[in-house]
Amino acid sequence: MGVNKASVSDFKYHRPTVDATKTSGITIRPIETVAEMRAVEQLEKEVWGIPDLDVVPVTHLVATKAAGGVLLGAFDRDALAGFVYGFVGLEDGELAHHSHMLAVKPAYRNFNLGYKLKLAQRDAVLAQGIKLITWTFDPLQSLNAHFNFTKLGVISNRYLIDFYGAEASSFLHQSGTDRLWVKWVLTSERVIQRLNAEPPNPEDPAGKLLVEIPGNINAVQEESPERARDWRKRTQAAFTAAIDKGYTVLDFYRETRGDEKFGVYILGYQSNTQPGEVSQSITS
Ligand SMILES: CC(C)(COP(=O)(O)OP(=O)(O)OC[C@H]1O[C@@H](n2cnc3c(N)ncnc32)[C@H](O)[C@@H]1OP(=O)(O)O)[C@@H](O)C(=O)NCCC(=O)NCCS
Repeated sequence: MGVNKASVSDFKYHRPTVDATKTSGITIRPIETVAEMRAVEQLEKEVWGIPDLDVVPVTHLVATKAAGGVLLGAFDRDALAGFVYGFVGLEDGELAHHSHMLAVKPAYRNFNLGYKLKLAQRDAVLAQGIKLITWTFDPLQSLNAHFNFTKLGVISNRYLIDFYGAEASSFLHQSGTDRLWVKWVLTSERVIQRLNAEPPNPEDPAGKLLVEIPGNINAVQEESPERARDWRKRTQAAFTAAIDKGYTVLDFYRETRGDEKFGVYILGYQSNTQPGEVSQSITS
């Protein structure tokens, strides 16, 4: 557990799944009406298990959309199967789009619908002349790590401790609300390669750090909240120490060790930053 200097010789590349016919009748389009936005409210409650007070409401969706926000739905005939929502923001003083929510109804998951919503969001944001989308996710969630880094090609050099406070209401927040702030640099070589399902440029393993996470933190959480909190503590220490030293989270791989599934983040220096001194093992 924790972060170690990488000795990875063969970073495996994961090709996205082939499009499933199950979702071929689904249309992705802008959400326009208040009735459709009410369906978004309901989906928020279903997916995150949040109380009414934590739901991003119709009035807020209307206002941010009118001010340049992007709200897209995936519709199975008239029924909302998923949505993506974000608003205009600033990143280092430059115009960016901040993606606040992405959700797919459980019955529609793992058919590339989330991926297609992100592609549609990318198109909409590029059409506004904006080239960066940011968002946050819980780095202990291996599904989201795979989705964000492997399928989409994000990078991250910001770790936020208890971003939404220590006691947020979703079942996803039982070990605090630490988040990685990710950047999706829409026209970068990394992103274009991932979207074209091309293998990335060969990585030089020298100077890379690895941070391991469990294959299913939600199962760990259910079995032992204490162990889940321990994963949080150790990964928080690992990410913050590495990022403080100038490392960027560049990639994520799913691995197996016997019967056990786990995930590994790859941290390295981006080409425009200089390597510095890093201890052999930041946590263990
Ligand atoms: C995240 C979410 C939107 C993805 O939607 P989706 O339509 O299932 O997404 P996709 O089918 O495009 O991709 C899912 C990927 O996760 C992979 N996956 C599924 N379970 C996984 C796990 N436990 N660990 C790692 N990867 C996993 C799938 O294999 C698939 O990758 P592949 O296409 O390379 O095989 C959906 O799971 C969801 O609504 N989750 C709850 C809300 C949430 O977490 N929102 C995002 C916050 S950043």
